[in-house]
Amino acid sequence: MAKRLSSTTTTSRKAMRSRSVQRIGIVGLGLMGRGIASCLLANGFEVVGFDISATQRKGSLKHISHALTELHKRKLLPARRLADWQQQYHVVTSPEGLAECALVIESVAEDLELKRGIYAQLESILPTKAIIASNTSSLPITSLQQGRLHPSRMIGMHWGEPAEIMHYLEIIPGEHTAPSVIRYAEKFGRSCGKEPVVLKQDIRGFLSNRLMYAMMREACHLVEAGIADIADVDRSFRNDIGWWALLAGPFRWMDLTGIPAYAAVMEGLLPELSDTKTVPRLMKQMQKKKAEGISNRKGFYPYTHSSSKRWKKDWVDFTYDMKRLAEKYKAD
Ligand SMILES: NC(=O)c1ccc[n+]([C@@H]2O[C@H](COP(=O)([O-])OP(=O)(O)OC[C@H]3O[C@@H](n4cnc5c(N)ncnc54)[C@H](O)[C@@H]3O)[C@@H](O)[C@H]2O)c1
Repeated sequence: MAKRLSSTTTTSRKAMRSRSVQRIGIVGLGLMGRGIASCLLANGFEVVGFDISATQRKGSLKHISHALTELHKRKLLPARRLADWQQQYHVVTSPEGLAECALVIESVAEDLELKRGIYAQLESILPTKAIIASNTSSLPITSLQQGRLHPSRMIGMHWGEPAEIMHYLEIIPGEHTAPSVIRYAEKFGRSCGKEPVVLKQDIRGFLSNRLMYAMMREACHLVEAGIADIADVDRSFRNDIGWWALLAGPFRWMDLTGIPAYAAVMEGLLPELSDTKTVPRLMKQMQKKKAEGISNRKGFYPYTHSSSKRWKKDWVDFTYDMKRLAEKYKAD
């Protein structure tokens, strides 16, 4: 079992101070937090994980064990690291256990007030030099900095799932983030095996989510307008955009296929694309049905226990295949 630290254990604090390995805290050990923990452990960091739920704390151990075993099986993690991750992962039952962390990554649900409450707690625990990062998917970082005693130490760090496999990391400075914190976050991202992108402005949704939601709005519109059904929209996307999106981003793709055609098409097509400002009807229907997707087997498609398990497994296997391709076909 991974070590469980009492938040007030002075011996463990002393031991920690003498280590050269950086200790990173994670608040929220749900889907993302446990993936981030796996990534950090795989890259040699010491991790302190805190979640308010005992079930989630326990679940993180099982998830990390599985994620690191998979990395090892695919020759992406040395045996030594697989053998000793339990010494490097500390599950704590109160936020005080995060006191010795150089960086704390907050990854609780996407709720501004909940996140603000966590930062207030962290402020009373962490030394002022410790950095606080948020894995928020959409909240402007400046809004998270409001009311904080030391807003300059706060930054957005947006991870992708599965975090231990992907190269994705967006770093979002808020209006008050110190330049040294931005430099630290970028360097830290690289040491986690990521290709970090630092945004020049604090904008809601950041980069990849803005692109993805623009696409999802149009996908809902095409179905709601009766132009295609869900499976056909998915099929076209997968067989066209899905075919090149790892090789090239939108701009490289235009270079590869010829820019003039895109400018001409934009003239006629852009006025016809959905620009709705409200949540599409299709999504509201899903909300009403309490559909969460494969996790509760209610989604746009029907799922059984075994088909949802298969999709979960395919997703991980596929991400490993994509990692190999991304490394073979470098972007820069
Ligand atoms: N799901 C994704 O694909 C994805 C991708 C990137 C970023 N994000 C962002 O990451 C964050 C977490 O998302 P998730 O999908 O992991 O959510 P999740 O619901 O799976 O996990 C959130 C965790 O926070 C814990 N929590 C709630 N209140 C807490 C508190 N007061 N103290 C400590 N722990 C508490 C919950 O018990 C839960 O385990 C969100 O901000 C989300 O927008 C999600």
